[in-house]
Amino acid sequence: MTSIQHSRIDALLAGLDLAAKIGLLSGEGLWALPARPEIGLARMVLSDGPAGVRGDESAADVPAIQLPGPTALASTWDPELARRVGRLLAQESRRKGVHVLLAPAVNIQRSPLGGRHFEFFSEDPLLTAELGVAYVSGVQEGGVAATVKHFVANDSETDRFTVDVRVGERALREIYLAPFEAIVRRARPWAVMSAYNTVNGVPMTSHAALNAVLRREWGFDGVLVSDWTAARDTVANALAGLDIAMPGPDTVYGDALLEAVRDGRVPAGVVEEMAGRVLRLAARVGALSGAEPAVPPADLPPRLDGRAVAREVATRSITLVRNENDVLPIDAARVGRIALIGSAAAEPRTIGGGSITVHPERVVSPLAGLRAALPPHVELTYTPGVALQATLAPLRGRFEAIFRDRHGRVLASVPLADASAWWRGDPPPGVGLEALASLELRGNFVPTASGVHTFGIAGLGHFEFSVDGAQRYEGEQEMGGSDPAGVFFRPPETRHEVELRAGQPVLVQVRATSFAPGSLGFSLNHEEPSETPEETIRAAVVAAAGADVAVVVVGTTEEIESEGFDRTSLDLPGRQDELVARVAAANSRTVVVVNTGAPVTMPWREEVPAILLSWFGGQEIGAALADVLLGVAEPGGRLPTTWPKQQRDVPVLSVRPVDGELAYDEGVFVGYRAWQRAGAEPAYWFGHGLGYTEWAYDALSVSPDPGDDLARVRVGLRNTGTRTGREVVQIYLAPAEPDGARPDSWLAGFAVTTAAPGEAVHAEVVIAQRAVESWDTPGHCWRKVPGSYRILVGRSQSDIRQETLFEVGA
Ligand code: BGC
Repeated sequence: MTSIQHSRIDALLAGLDLAAKIGLLSGEGLWALPARPEIGLARMVLSDGPAGVRGDESAADVPAIQLPGPTALASTWDPELARRVGRLLAQESRRKGVHVLLAPAVNIQRSPLGGRHFEFFSEDPLLTAELGVAYVSGVQEGGVAATVKHFVANDSETDRFTVDVRVGERALREIYLAPFEAIVRRARPWAVMSAYNTVNGVPMTSHAALNAVLRREWGFDGVLVSDWTAARDTVANALAGLDIAMPGPDTVYGDALLEAVRDGRVPAGVVEEMAGRVLRLAARVGALSGAEPAVPPADLPPRLDGRAVAREVATRSITLVRNENDVLPIDAARVGRIALIGSAAAEPRTIGGGSITVHPERVVSPLAGLRAALPPHVELTYTPGVALQATLAPLRGRFEAIFRDRHGRVLASVPLADASAWWRGDPPPGVGLEALASLELRGNFVPTASGVHTFGIAGLGHFEFSVDGAQRYEGEQEMGGSDPAGVFFRPPETRHEVELRAGQPVLVQVRATSFAPGSLGFSLNHEEPSETPEETIRAAVVAAAGADVAVVVVGTTEEIESEGFDRTSLDLPGRQDELVARVAAANSRTVVVVNTGAPVTMPWREEVPAILLSWFGGQEIGAALADVLLGVAEPGGRLPTTWPKQQRDVPVLSVRPVDGELAYDEGVFVGYRAWQRAGAEPAYWFGHGLGYTEWAYDALSVSPDPGDDLARVRVGLRNTGTRTGREVVQIYLAPAEPDGARPDSWLAGFAVTTAAPGEAVHAEVVIAQRAVESWDTPGHCWRKVPGSYRILVGRSQSDIRQETLFEVGA
């Protein structure tokens, strides 16, 4: 921020009266901050994030580039790639008129049951921090504000608006605040989002940590924005330093804040500072005329090809956790038939559920990707195995949404690309909510199969459903559960069976006549007539038995893995475990692809020769997966989180508050730190991931850092296999004398390197001082812990190749 900008902001503030300043502090709707043309302030648009840019209501139908989700990005262990992702998201933001991206989410994967596990990077604070720093830098190099969220300890979803997380100061500092601290200090984000939850009795939107830690201790100079509806206390929020209450226009700021200033509960100077920070944000993102944006147009980074980035991240994130007898890669020249199995192979989950969701122009499914990549002599069969979608997808086809007033007059009519008629922001032009009496969805549907079709009506309110003029259902649908955002994630659905004949078109109509506030719309979902579950599994087993290789894609559904609620089980839904076991028994060359954002249990793990984790891999996942299966590319991923054998082994599991409190009793022992302490053996440790080549680690040297850091580690390694490969060299520190108070070992640095067959390379890793510091709770400060440390170098927590001792002086 230049001094010219400072003085311009001061001058503008001097010209605004109190009410006008307060007007800057609430959203003008769901996704924007209001314009003030008289001072040259443009409307600023905010958008989720983090795996694509949705845009405001006006951009909702404009397709987005849908990138692999954060757990996938974290699996690359590649900050350079995360930075490129940030730049692409800035480019997407600019295309969609977005100034502020509501990302990244750098909460910690504390329990694998956490509903937004897929949206966070890792169970480890250092890996989270390194990716977060790079991501935020990339976004802001593109002139768009990043919003680091959710500050802090919003690591699970149960009762997320009210839960009081009880966590000690040391765990907060060393685990939960650590990524925020690194990002604020190193990447200088222009915004931070305060979380819904309470920490140690104080809601985060009122927490002293906003000003004391974020601003004064770490030097954060951006805006603090509430999570959506999290600002609930005018005076406490303003005094704590929360600048913006979202969404608007009705928030705890506005008139209530005006009154609080007038009667002296909030000093006018506090509002002045809040408004000044909003104007500074506007200046940075180019929304304040006369102020130079942080990145002038001439300095914007070169254009990126969105699809290419999505494919590259997907390829590098795919994690090979098991590969017996070199079943992978598949040599296409030597196979005649591949059996692709699993409904997720045709309809993969490419992004998590909830606010992260963005709709791409196209999705390359594993089925389409493999079909395009295989040479003509290879026959590819596809069988769904298990019908996975417990939630039905909207009926495909062209439909129309017709809005009428109570006299039946048409207020607006909107063409739809499928039978989903949702308006999550403003209603379409011409539709006033006071005048609206009904919303009708209508269109012709031509069945491709004869039999009993299942229709689902998902939404809140009163509905009538008819087929060819005959009414099939009329009823009221109400919301279960307490999460007000639930209507977006899991609206109530009723199911209706209708017998139809293939090729015979029918007119389908759904009419809604009552509307829940803030959720205008519904969808008409559909499922084709299906065989029995036993028949579909049997068909998959037959296909596998007749093929050279079977590839089974298994996964979660949006019903069990999404924002808004936690999982209750780590098992794969439906009969997928049985499907894998039966396919593996029929074909010894069975490859399983796991399409989830978070760990699941895999009881068949040792019965199949190969397992790939494809995460929520974004729109290009099928192309990336085909490359990896066929060896065109190496699976580059390493686990950012530990995967258990069975749920009961997980040392930190519960996400269920007791009397409103969720106790982080484990302190700093989270993720692999907890597994080490429990002495338990997971299925796959943090950091694990195989490639298609072999590595020998040789020379290791460690020297004290001549600057402010602790040490420099230099590792020599050689690619001893037959293919070019990419290696993630991981450095862990372990106190030579375990002290019980600290974990057995922890990640202290990492580096990515590539080498051709036979080639020797070096990886250089700088270890920061923080790696040997611990938070001193009574003293409220960091303290170096002197002594002997083992420096462990290897491929994962469980595959250490070299070690040496390092002395840390007092
Ligand atoms: C989520 C945020 C998101 C916001 C706006 C909230 O429910 O927690 O991550 O940015 O909604 O969609």
